[in-house]
Amino acid sequence: MEPKKSLDEVTTKNEQESTASYQTSDAEKPLDIINVYDLEKEASKVIPKGGYDYISSGAGDLWTIEQNIKSFNHKTIVPRVLRNIEYPDQSTSIFGDKISTPIIMAPVAAHGLANSKGEPATAKGIADAKTIMTISSYANKPFKEISEAGQGAPQWFQFYMSKDDGINRDILDEAKANGVKAIVLTADATVGGNREADKRNGFVFPLGMPIVQAYQTGVGQTMDAVYGSSKQILSPKDVEFIAAYSGLPVFVKGVQTAEDAHISIESGAGGIWVTNHGGRQLDGGMPAFESLQIVAEEVNKRLPIVFDSGVRRGQHVFKALASGADLIGIGRPVIYALALGGAQGVTSVFDWFKAELEKTMQLAGTKTVEDIKKVKLQNYPYSY
Ligand code: FNR
Ligand code: LAC
Repeated sequence: MEPKKSLDEVTTKNEQESTASYQTSDAEKPLDIINVYDLEKEASKVIPKGGYDYISSGAGDLWTIEQNIKSFNHKTIVPRVLRNIEYPDQSTSIFGDKISTPIIMAPVAAHGLANSKGEPATAKGIADAKTIMTISSYANKPFKEISEAGQGAPQWFQFYMSKDDGINRDILDEAKANGVKAIVLTADATVGGNREADKRNGFVFPLGMPIVQAYQTGVGQTMDAVYGSSKQILSPKDVEFIAAYSGLPVFVKGVQTAEDAHISIESGAGGIWVTNHGGRQLDGGMPAFESLQIVAEEVNKRLPIVFDSGVRRGQHVFKALASGADLIGIGRPVIYALALGGAQGVTSVFDWFKAELEKTMQLAGTKTVEDIKKVKLQNYPYSY
């Protein structure tokens, strides 16, 4: 196989120009956060429009992205009183790694769109928050830089497979060599959602994707072209292949039904990641929180469940934990914090989520994650 080329060798002159022309935030400071809705507004002022719209927007009518947040109102927490709620503890562990909170980072492509320091800044911020970063295949920085910035904190790798299994083995080798503890196979994005904001903006990635450079440089590419260059026919055999070759636990990301949870378990998955990709794929699809109820019943504690999509409050985290999730992934809010404050901004947003969860725990009469998992939420079927 050809020796790997550096990013410089694979990008053409105009691609290098587009990389140089993309100017974004280089902020590095702690953030005083009231809520993450404010972060989204503030981030729109510092991220170039094309990059911001790619990050913030979703598919089609934006119905699913909106329902992801509203669907948390379909269940209510019934608070208990006369309980000792002093010194709440939200720490937990996964695959032998102890973390300060069940809140982790979901894989997000191209952190360089939000801050010129990119994924290494995110990695440092998450390490300082003592939780887990999931590295996207479409990161703008190489594994080595992200791994070093993570200072030994647990990192997972989200995998968009190549059509070529030799390249897939190389990428998995590099992931393992850089210490990742789990692989996340994204199964809900073999083709792109209908992202009208990107179409209007003529969005193409301005920065490279060194982790997958053997099959995709990224620079000057549309999202659809990037998806088109990855493996678009996934099957349970891919789960088996990755688990056998890497020897690591493999999450199947994008599972929203009992049937797909069953198939994933049968194929040797080490975890289930319930998500609808933050409403960026199938508009009109089920809100992820609704799917969590269904999938958790099927999994029945046989495997760890990660849940993401639309989590913006501590009460959302609480409700997802009470609905069967073991860990909760955050996407966009971390990127907004990265844009506004770099590594320290990322730590700030996780500190904010932890404080929100702690307050919710105490007001609900719970002290630990295990307490939360025993809570029975109430249905709240009223529309609004
Ligand atoms: C994503 N997501 C995503 N998922 C994945 O498996 N690989 C990826 O590279 C990306 N890239 C990506 C980029 C951007 C800009 C966003 C917003 C999202 C989906 C992500 O992992 C997660 O499912 C959602 O972002 C969760 O929803 P919230 O928290 O962003 O609402
Ligand atoms: C996205 C891809 C990178 O949602 O997963 O943009």
